[in-house]
Amino acid sequence: AAMSVFVTRRIPAEGLRVLSQASGCRVQQWDSEEPVPRAELLSRVAGTRGLLCLLSDRIDREVLDAAGPGLKVISTMSVGFDHLALDEIKKRGIRVGYTPDVLTDATAELSVALLLSACRRLLEAAQQVKSGGWTTWKPLWMCGYGLSDSTVGIIGLGRIGQAVARRLKPFGVKKFLYTGSGPKPESAAEFGAEFVPLARLAEESDFVVVTCALTPATQGMCNKDFFSRMKKTSVFVNTSRGAVVNQEDLYDALAQGQIAAAGLDVTTPEPLPTDHPLLSLKNCVILPHIGSATYATRSTMAVLAANNLLAGLRGEPMPHELKL
Ligand code: GLV
Ligand code: GLV
Repeated sequence: AAMSVFVTRRIPAEGLRVLSQASGCRVQQWDSEEPVPRAELLSRVAGTRGLLCLLSDRIDREVLDAAGPGLKVISTMSVGFDHLALDEIKKRGIRVGYTPDVLTDATAELSVALLLSACRRLLEAAQQVKSGGWTTWKPLWMCGYGLSDSTVGIIGLGRIGQAVARRLKPFGVKKFLYTGSGPKPESAAEFGAEFVPLARLAEESDFVVVTCALTPATQGMCNKDFFSRMKKTSVFVNTSRGAVVNQEDLYDALAQGQIAAAGLDVTTPEPLPTDHPLLSLKNCVILPHIGSATYATRSTMAVLAANNLLAGLRGEPMPHELKL
């Protein structure tokens, strides 16, 4: 029987080729840089066996109902899976593939770049050059905070969190703290990282980096109480999901000087409206969710997502299957 699959976006060609060259695979695609409109998604999934989607596609009960009982596999081209209604998916016996590991290096690298941009005020400084604000070398101008002798707190010491710590260590970080659902001595050993409660991480860190998954337990976790415990000289970086942060509370903390700066690769919503208050702050660097955006990584993610989908449709073990 033909395996019909629907791909919700234009993806790197290497990934689509894996699908189109697979025998018995009939590929349909929303071949656009822009997201598939919801109504289009609902009509195009009808009768499909496999769905290759992105983190910007909300795969909920409505989509699953529209797909019908023939849908066997969902493969997301992302490490995050908070956009998938896993309870509903599990109930229907649908298998899920995702793309961990292959984007760890790219995302960790972007996290470091964002941290340095925020703490050394790179975008603000570059803007001064363009606007004529650079009048002379000034001892007290454009100063920020450095990593040397600092304490770094990682929220979520998973693959990406460890890769961030590994990259930051050579900058002279004195101490790593981390928090999460429980201690991970094996992951922490390389950095001598200490497991601490969230409140202590906030109080003692000079830099906080959020790399945890978005779950009911982490939603809104970085809130008013959290920011009020942080040092006035500290810098907050989030490369996981926007909803881990209470954005109004973050705005207040930045606007009132409760923390020094923030770097965000993820926001709520995405895209962030161009008139959003956070965008008016000089001490907040915001990027458009580009953690995994290297050519090589995106290509590898697309191939992995395609291979996950095919393996699932063939009833074989997937290269990376989410345990439901
Ligand atoms: C990116 O945020 C991903 O989940 O892959
Ligand atoms: C997942 O978010 C990871 O850390 O790889």
